[in-house]
Amino acid sequence: MSTIHDEIVPVVDFGGQTAQLICRRVREAGVFSLLVTPRMSAAELARLKPRGIILSGGPKSVYEPGAPTMDPGILDLGVPVLGVCYGMQLACQLLGSRVVPGESREFGRANLAITDRKDLLFATIPDRTTVWMSHGDQVSEVSGIGIEPIALTSTCPVAAMRITTGGRRIYGVQFHPEVTHTPHGSDLIRNFVHEICGCRGTWKMSDFADQTAAQIRSAVGDGHVICGLSGGVDSAVTAALVHKAIGSQLTCVFVDTGLLRNAERDLVEQTFRDHFHIDLRVVDASEQFLSDLAGITDPQEKRRRIGHRFIDVFKQAARSIPGASFLAQGTLYPDVIESGHGHAGESANIKLHHNVGGLPADLGFQLVEPLRELFKDEVRKLGEVLGLPDALIWRHPFPGPGLAVRVLGEVTRAKLDILRECDEILLEEIVAASLYRSTSQVFAVLLPVQSVGVMGDGRTYDSVVAIRAVETQDFMSADWCRLPYDVLGRVSSRIINEVRGVNRVVYDISSKPPATIEWE
Ligand code: XMP
Repeated sequence: MSTIHDEIVPVVDFGGQTAQLICRRVREAGVFSLLVTPRMSAAELARLKPRGIILSGGPKSVYEPGAPTMDPGILDLGVPVLGVCYGMQLACQLLGSRVVPGESREFGRANLAITDRKDLLFATIPDRTTVWMSHGDQVSEVSGIGIEPIALTSTCPVAAMRITTGGRRIYGVQFHPEVTHTPHGSDLIRNFVHEICGCRGTWKMSDFADQTAAQIRSAVGDGHVICGLSGGVDSAVTAALVHKAIGSQLTCVFVDTGLLRNAERDLVEQTFRDHFHIDLRVVDASEQFLSDLAGITDPQEKRRRIGHRFIDVFKQAARSIPGASFLAQGTLYPDVIESGHGHAGESANIKLHHNVGGLPADLGFQLVEPLRELFKDEVRKLGEVLGLPDALIWRHPFPGPGLAVRVLGEVTRAKLDILRECDEILLEEIVAASLYRSTSQVFAVLLPVQSVGVMGDGRTYDSVVAIRAVETQDFMSADWCRLPYDVLGRVSSRIINEVRGVNRVVYDISSKPPATIEWE
């Protein structure tokens, strides 16, 4: 592994769910960071020329058989080391201290009292501050190996520590500075990389773009890459980055399923073909998708058919691109960790993803996944650096099966047309009210019911449309948005007046759980 960054603080990943968050906090402090496996030797790590090293938390106890460990030489590379939770316990154990189960396990908020005000790790952090704990074990012996406790909580006498003997500069914190529940956690990580490691902090997202483009160039050589565009931000940023790296050796494929919203295909064509001059193949497969869906009302069966058809269409498109042996995908770090494939392979599996509209792993291509280390908001920053339009960068997520899961019951072209019109009006009003950026996902759903209404002097018996607007951090749980009544009112009257076939609009006020974000 090589890196072009002059300041790098890698994080050794012991499998903690928040290990990548530590990298992110380091990058926010203007220093490049990436996860490395604990199987890396001290000599290999030294080749990265780190300015400091951080040891992550992990789900195991350091004294358990089979618990991950590391080359003890890492503590003697002559650069500062910061151990977080498991990382601190492991460093202490490797230096000869004992780690034992604590009298009480500590999960959640704790009050930290800083006992050494002079230590630079705590510069700008108040004497007493809230920290987030998640541990059962504690370092029990401090004498002998030169551990100096520098902060404590009511149940944890070594809540933060340092070792400065034997030419070492090792720090440890029992709490998690990387999570937002530790309000001064980012300050602590910034202090570590700036004050203790002496970094200047000049790293920027454009450096990530340059380095990753260089890696893509060397991995791909003179090969050819295909990238499936969905219209979402992840695949768009992937394509722009791969294009920056290898230009005309990239071909993008966009499948028009007939289940897209208005203007979706136009935005992709304008951005990638007209602006970036990328070789873009648009495959219009709407006939096939719609005939697969004829007569089908079961939501799972709809998803299954759409998923199969998508893979078939994509495979066929890929076969028509001669010499393509690489497939670029917009896999993000949360997708990696949720499927249990953390960088170091230590993370527990916490969620199975239902990514209908995606591609199977065995398509026979070598994968190029340049966003694997990034979080969504970092991907957006990267998109800005690469010059993608705001409309793509800030686009709400759209499910792979598209409007098929928003036309409840059987999907027909006529119903899709009605829903597209409703959806367009809704999004126009949300954008006009400056609510697009503060909401996470807003959409219309065409319900399989009709209701009685009156228009002019006549009775109507037309469709009902539901509006869904949610706020969420991670899409695993979500709350319904308290949209202003006047916005809801405008959406409702415009839909009923402008869309033929709809005479009633309702607002969905269910949170997830127990409801899901989509209706099917
Ligand atoms: P639910 O409905 O499960 O949705 O609360 C959570 C998020 O996932 C999106 N979603 C999908 N995305 N393929 C996708 O790529 C799918 O099959 C799929 N189903 C739901 C949904 O829009 C929301 O953002």
